[in-house]
Formats: sequence, C-alpha cells, structure tokens
Amino acid sequence: MPHIKFKPISSQTLEDITQRCNAVTFRADALSGDGECVLGARYGGEEFLLQLKRAPKSDMLKYDKVTRPLKVNLIKEVLAKLSDEFGLEIEHSNISISEHRQQPSSKYLKKIKDFESINIPFKRVAIEVGFGSGRHLLHQALQHPDRLHIGIEIHTPSAQQVLRQIDIQGLENIWVVNYDARLFLEMLPSNICEQIFVHFPVPWDKKPHRRVISQGFTDEALRILVPQGRLELRTDSEAYFWYSLESFFALSKAQVVIEKNKNLAVVSKYEARWRKQEKDIYEVHLTAEKFSSPKVLTVDFSFGKVRYHSKILDNLPPKSIIMDDYFVHFEKLYKIGDDGLLIKVAFGSFDRPEHKYIILDETECRYYSSNPVKTGVNYLAHQKIMEYLYV
Ligand SMILES: C[S@@+](CC[C@H](N)C(=O)[O-])C[C@H]1O[C@@H](n2cnc3c(N)ncnc32)[C@H](O)[C@@H]1O
Repeated sequence: MPHIKFKPISSQTLEDITQRCNAVTFRADALSGDGECVLGARYGGEEFLLQLKRAPKSDMLKYDKVTRPLKVNLIKEVLAKLSDEFGLEIEHSNISISEHRQQPSSKYLKKIKDFESINIPFKRVAIEVGFGSGRHLLHQALQHPDRLHIGIEIHTPSAQQVLRQIDIQGLENIWVVNYDARLFLEMLPSNICEQIFVHFPVPWDKKPHRRVISQGFTDEALRILVPQGRLELRTDSEAYFWYSLESFFALSKAQVVIEKNKNLAVVSKYEARWRKQEKDIYEVHLTAEKFSSPKVLTVDFSFGKVRYHSKILDNLPPKSIIMDDYFVHFEKLYKIGDDGLLIKVAFGSFDRPEHKYIILDETECRYYSSNPVKTGVNYLAHQKIMEYLYV
C-alpha cells in the first residue's frame, strides 16, 4: 500500500503542509504522545486520511486503512504532491502511479452497504447462509436460472473461491456477500425470498450465542420469506437440531417439518464428511405462513447537537463498553487545533465490527468520511457513542 519514507521534517514544514497544501484540510495530533499525527486529505472527490509516523531517523507518510479510498492512485497522487511541493527528501517510496486500471471486483460480489438501496432484478430469490465450498449454492443456481441466489459467507477465502466458480461456470444468478449472516437478513426487504438454506452451520457448542440460528435470526427469516417460503436447516449435530427446534417452537405459530437422513441432489463438502463417518443428518423446515409488513429502516447516524467540548476527553472510557449485542471502543484520540477532535472508534457487532473516525469541532460532528452500515447493532452503538460525546 502506498507510502513514502523521508528524512524527518521540521515542525515548521509540518505546519506549512497543514496550512498551505490545498489537498490537506486538517492535521490531527495523537493525544497518546507518540508524535503520530494524521492529515485529512480531500482530493479527486474523496476524503481520506494519511498517517504520519515519526521516528528519529526518518518519517513516513502512509495510507490509513479505515478511510482508504477505492482508487489507490488518489493516495499516491497526494503523496507525490506533498513530496514535490514541500521538498521532502525521499528515502523510499512505492507511489509510482499505475497506468493499469484497478482490477474491477466481480459484479457478483455485493457489499453490505449496497443493500441499503438495492434493486433486485429477479422475481424469485433464494438465500444460502454459510455456503462454505459453495457446492450447494452453485448447484441451486444452475438448477434455477430464473432465480437469484444470494450466498452469504463470513469466511473471505470461501467467498473468493465461489466468485471464481461463478466466473468459470458463467453464472449470472448468484450474488456473494462476505458478511455475517446474522446481521445481513435485516438489510433485506420483507417477503422477497422463497427459500433460505442453512446447511451445516457451525454448532458452537461452547459459545451458543454465536450460533446463526437465534430468535432474532428466525424472526428476520420469517419476515423476508414469502408466504409458504421456508427456512431449511440441515445439521449433523443433534444438539443444534434440538436447539433449533426449540427456537422454532418458541414462535407463537409455526409450521415445522422434520426429516432424518434425507438425500439431496447435491452433497455439500461437510455433508460428505459426516456421511463418511456414518453420522445422522437432521433436517428441519420452518415455513412462513403469512405476509409480513414492510420493514421501515429508521436508522439515523447524525450526531444532533453534539459539538466539540474540552470535557468530552474526560468522558471517554479507555476500555471497551460491552453490551449484550454490541460494543463500543474509543481506540485513539487526536486533537485538531484548540477546538477540534478526531476519534478513532470501533463498534457494533463482535464479529463484524465497524471501524470509523468521528470528527468534531465547534460547528459540526460527523463520521469521517462515510456513515456506518445501517444495521440495528450499529445504530444501538451509535446511540451509545452519542451518550459519551454529548456533554
Ligand atoms: C460447517 S461449514 C458448512 C459449509 C457448507 N454449508 C457445507 O455444508 O459444506 C459452516 C460455514 O458457515 C460459515 N459461517 C459461520 N458463521 C457464519 C455467519 N455468522 N455468517 C455467515 N457465514 C457463517 C463458515 O465460514 C463456514 O463456511
């Protein structure tokens, strides 16, 4: 990733960069006292941060992971601009601007944010949760060319492997989402899906709170299923089978069908393993019986009246705030001049946390440079953050 290493610059040069470079909008100095600072850049229609790491023999300016723009060349161009305009004595750099266009990512890979306003170009939809090697997902997509198959998988290499297969097999009816299924369903509109496959979920015997099937997941599944659409769980774990059955029977009204050792047209990688060991396979179908009302997403990530106040610094806890479903951790604090702050914060779900910066001065407070994903846990975490910032 782009960086330049150069002979240490004086504090006057740093001040000049902050004040005179038209691509730099502010400088924020770390309150940790390690001499680190970040520069806010606005360039090519994007906002992002550059980190300045200082050491006795050389300084380094590098990209910031959290705010990294998709077009990496923008970072390189700003680094080159700073180097030229302020005569930095470069010792090492990797910012030659690439002539090649960035490898476009697959159009079948969807980001969770895409679902905040998505147009689903198919009348029929099926979802597979935790598709692993993708055998069953690919098979379903081939069998039902007029249906969209949304595969959701938390493990990135598995998601990449299936994207390669989509390409090789020329399939046009699969979307891959590399995210936590427990958070994903709430991003979908009501009554859109005819089948949800949950095949061989991790049993999490020692940490049941991490299981995919839960009361919340079941409620969301029934909401997004069309009437008579069904959730199909397949598991080799007797404990998970009974646990899921209990969750489904907790519903006030439910149509539940159980099968044992039923053969499917395709055997997934995990199923093949369990069959070899002659394990029993349990299948449970939960059918949606009614039309669900539309989901109204009222998630607002604005900060209302929050503004910079020196007392905020005393208010921010150094340790993580752990709640049942989410956490908030104020990771690092930076001061911008006398009346501004930049806060690096991690929050939201334990498995897929958001990493963001919050910038605030006496006139505004906002996420820098874009809002979090509109999930329920992110919204709860945002409200908790507001409690600490509003003094
Ligand atoms: C035991 S494997 C089963 C894979 C595949 N369904 C099969 O039958 O071969 C469980 C899969 O679920 C994925 N997974 C676990 N938790 C998940 C979650 N919360 N959201 C999405 N995928 C998840 C894992 O990465 C893994 O690929």
